[in-house]
Amino acid sequence: LKAHKYVKLAELLASEIKQGHWQHHDKLPSVRALAQQHQLAKISVLHALQLLEMRGLVYAKPKSGYYVAPIKTASFSQQRQLSKEAPKHVQVPDVFFDIMQRSAAFDIYPQASSHASQSKYIQSLNRNISRVMRQQSQINSQYYGSPTGDDLLKEQVALRYQRRGLSVSSEDVCITSGCQNALYLALVNCCSAGDIVAVESPAFYGVLQLLHHLKLKIIEIPSSYTQGIDVEQFKQAVNAWPVKACILTPSFATPTGATMPEQAMKALLDIAVERNITIIEDDIYGELGFHHLSRPLKIFDNDDRVMLCGSVSKSLSRDLRIGWVISNKHSKAIAHTKLVNHLSDSQAIQKGLAHFIADGSFERHLQQYRRQLLTQREQLLEAINQYWHFNIRYTVPEGGLALWLELPECIDSIKLYNQALEAGIVVTPGRLFSTDNKFNQYLRLSFSHPMDEQRVKAIQSLGKIITKLLR
Ligand SMILES: Cc1ncc(COP(=O)(O)O)c(C=O)c1O
Repeated sequence: LKAHKYVKLAELLASEIKQGHWQHHDKLPSVRALAQQHQLAKISVLHALQLLEMRGLVYAKPKSGYYVAPIKTASFSQQRQLSKEAPKHVQVPDVFFDIMQRSAAFDIYPQASSHASQSKYIQSLNRNISRVMRQQSQINSQYYGSPTGDDLLKEQVALRYQRRGLSVSSEDVCITSGCQNALYLALVNCCSAGDIVAVESPAFYGVLQLLHHLKLKIIEIPSSYTQGIDVEQFKQAVNAWPVKACILTPSFATPTGATMPEQAMKALLDIAVERNITIIEDDIYGELGFHHLSRPLKIFDNDDRVMLCGSVSKSLSRDLRIGWVISNKHSKAIAHTKLVNHLSDSQAIQKGLAHFIADGSFERHLQQYRRQLLTQREQLLEAINQYWHFNIRYTVPEGGLALWLELPECIDSIKLYNQALEAGIVVTPGRLFSTDNKFNQYLRLSFSHPMDEQRVKAIQSLGKIITKLLR
């Protein structure tokens, strides 16, 4: 997907602001000057400035121009050091399960969803599945599908990766029941109880729960909120401890939305080769880049040490429960574990999905969905900037479904979570993304739902709850 020129200009100006080209309250060059400098129409420059205004990076003064905003910093990072503590078993507080049962707060105000209209693509997906059910119900009801999954679907998954530059054979694909199941299958096939697994920090809470369940030890590697895992600190960790595997989300990680630069992917893989560490790549958000097609880390994997996991849960439907693990070396073992665990997945759903991808509907859906998500991201930031009158910092991810937001230090996000719940508002507290308290003052906020009136009001109410907690 090609980025619009005004989005590119907005990104450039945002990065110049971040690098300190201007001080707070400094006036930016005029629209005319920017148009001349970047050879763009004035209207494109205005669109770019409006985008920055929505993100809270600049503000407009009538009849004067645009100025660099003072308090709220979009996109930020925090320098943290690797803990000197030994890797340890993971404790999972009950609140993790409570929040996961509420669908992990991808919708800040779930009550608003009762009026949601169904997308034409989901309708078409459902028609595809119903058709297969009608045509093949007798056969499917009498036989299990292959444990590694439907051939046509495996081919389509391989083709999706080929589009993103990864040469992969459909024979290396094993269909799973979603990405959480894929991560489980990958982990049990490269680790045993007591082994040490490195994770990026903040980490996806589903991974923390898996490590707890499998009695694996964790070492949390400090990660940039914009560029993902810190490779230098990963190196320090693997020099200090016998790390067996590393799980990470190189593209649009949750909760931050960070994306690893390709240089860092290569450096991390070099270390993994040297130390014989298996990499488990969680690629669940890989298809959700707003401006460019992200390439998976496995592209640089010359000795098949990356197990690539993904699903359509975030890009299409959580309800299908369809995901995959891709690995040549481990393919047999993975299929075996899957067979033992749950035999196979629904044939009708796999085939219906395969037809939906093959006829181009999935790609059309993605093109529309990525634009929608970008708009929703801007609307969420606009609401936050309009209604929250206290200091915050947040990331502005270029893909995925959520941003990472830092509140004033005195805020305890679990307390906030509980108070917000009383108002029907569901947030994901930062506490969920680590084994300790270091992200207590953080929230993950999702933009995966339209910012209708009710959700905007929910943001406003959340602002009021936070303000009260600050007193
Ligand atoms: C990073 C990440 N990986 C895996 C999963 C689980 O995905 P699935 O619903 O496909 O099991 C999620 C869901 O929130 C996620 O955010």
